Amino acid sequence: MTDFPKAGVIGNPIAHSLSPKLHNYWLKRYGLSGSYTALQVTDDNLETTIRALPDKGFIGANVTIPHKVSVLQFAHHVTDRATLIGAANTLIFKEDGRIFADNTDGYGFLANLKQGAPNWDPKSGPAAIFGAGGAARAIIVALADAGVPEILLSNRTRPKAEALRAEFGARIRVIDWVQAGTMLVDANIVINTTSLGMKGAQELKVPLDDLRSDAVVTDIVYTPLRTPFLVAAEQHGCTTVDGLGMLLHQGVPGFERWFGTRPEVDEDTRRAVLA
Ligand code: ATR
Repeated sequence: MTDFPKAGVIGNPIAHSLSPKLHNYWLKRYGLSGSYTALQVTDDNLETTIRALPDKGFIGANVTIPHKVSVLQFAHHVTDRATLIGAANTLIFKEDGRIFADNTDGYGFLANLKQGAPNWDPKSGPAAIFGAGGAARAIIVALADAGVPEILLSNRTRPKAEALRAEFGARIRVIDWVQAGTMLVDANIVINTTSLGMKGAQELKVPLDDLRSDAVVTDIVYTPLRTPFLVAAEQHGCTTVDGLGMLLHQGVPGFERWFGTRPEVDEDTRRAVLA
């Protein structure tokens, strides 16, 4: 390890990533020497950049859109969960030159729920998921791992949801997008993994008549923190958990591996990242 360990986040675009704020806050808070920077990398430069980083003192990196899938081909070791999800968000550059790739999105998702909805018991009932993109993949794997008995899945483009069912098994039941509201009848956790509700995008418009008031509702969108979907769920009496926590928690395992201290996600962390 170098005296001044460096890490960063690789993506394109990357200017709006909150990860540099998060990791630099933790470095300062724990009095650690190190740096964490945003690295704008195009598809064409991905391999060269990743191969060059260790020589520049980098001990690891986070990976975000659009490189989470393609980065796997440059890793010497890919963890089982990253393989299952088919994407990596955390890289560790070993001293012997090997690259280790992991995916901590599912961990971040579950840790956020544990913190924001400590009474939710994964084994106690079905989950309902809107969306079947990359985020949904990580969340499905995490939910299945946590012992959720059934996953109801609805996506605008139904074949994408069917493909996830074919890949991840019969525990998934696909519901037509126009009937997505019916998923809510039994669900004790409801998750928006689409980009709907994001500032500037359309809202996720689902009839919430069937939503149980004791359900936990969470959204991966965190701009705004309280999406219209979360506001509606709150008005329904549900416990809601915003998406910022998932982002903060997914950074924990990487930070610990790179800098040697397991950081805490708390109100101060949220404030630092939102400032
Ligand atoms: P991510 O990796 O963040 O999941 P993604 O793979 O691009 O991003 O997935 C985006 C998700 O949002 C998909 O489920 C997408 O639905 P489609 O598969 O039908 O494209 C969903 N999504 C985006 N815009 C949408 C819209 N206007 N209406 C419904 N779903 C939408």
